[in-house]
Amino acid sequence: MNKTAPIAVFDSGVGGLSVFREIQKLMPNENLIYFGDTARVPYGTRSAATIQKFVKSDLDFLSRFEPKLIVVACGTASCVGAPVLEKECEHFTSVISPSAIAAAKTTKTGRIGVISTAATLKSGAFEKKIKELLPTAQVFTKAAQMFVNVVENGWIEEDNEIANAVAKEYLKELKQQDIDTLILGCTHFPLLSAVIQKQMGEGVTLISSGYETALAAKMDLEALGLRNQSDAPGSRKCFVSDNVDSFCQLTSIFLDHQVAKEHVELVEVN
Ligand code: DGL
Repeated sequence: MNKTAPIAVFDSGVGGLSVFREIQKLMPNENLIYFGDTARVPYGTRSAATIQKFVKSDLDFLSRFEPKLIVVACGTASCVGAPVLEKECEHFTSVISPSAIAAAKTTKTGRIGVISTAATLKSGAFEKKIKELLPTAQVFTKAAQMFVNVVENGWIEEDNEIANAVAKEYLKELKQQDIDTLILGCTHFPLLSAVIQKQMGEGVTLISSGYETALAAKMDLEALGLRNQSDAPGSRKCFVSDNVDSFCQLTSIFLDHQVAKEHVELVEVN
């Protein structure tokens, strides 16, 4: 396989940019493609059959770039779409294993929390993976779908009243479970790290699916002998299935800069 082929990163919308940002930092010389399925977001409230159908069409779209690695930068697509990913992709990195491995390494008490979308929770994928790695672990899960809207509205500052009110409500049961590690199992959630940390207290270590997945993608490419050898900065190209303007605005929340409209292409997926 060609080492200069792109890494293709995809999500149901903008959340996967939290993975994309970390990939850019860790592997600035790699050519990157981002696809956000903004016409069909959210995935997290849908049935498994529908999510799997969406994941298949996302992969069909990305296949035209002949990527050397697919990074599934969406907790929901990673967990619910796993059968499709395993069937369709030669090489892929998803958010499940990297986050579960980091949590299993971090916990001292074996009491691990996972917050995610509703569909991810229903799949049981994080719980299964954590128990495989650490059979004595006790896993406490909570769906926190509204965090997706909180992030997309830009309410991410530590003292934002709405973000704190939503976090207080979602996290109150997990706080009572005395967990010492919490997986942010949806790629939108790392943007709310400060708010979530404040609610959970300093004694709880947050595992960011964004950073862990990017690191795993780098390790996967190295293991495959597929790292780009060039020293030049890699190319970046974004595709969305709806609303280029709103995607560009949201990039300023997720990345260190706002992506200009001319770097984003509207595509149709079906
Ligand atoms: N970014 C998606 C995830 O990681 C959440 C948004 C959605 O519900 O589509 O699960």
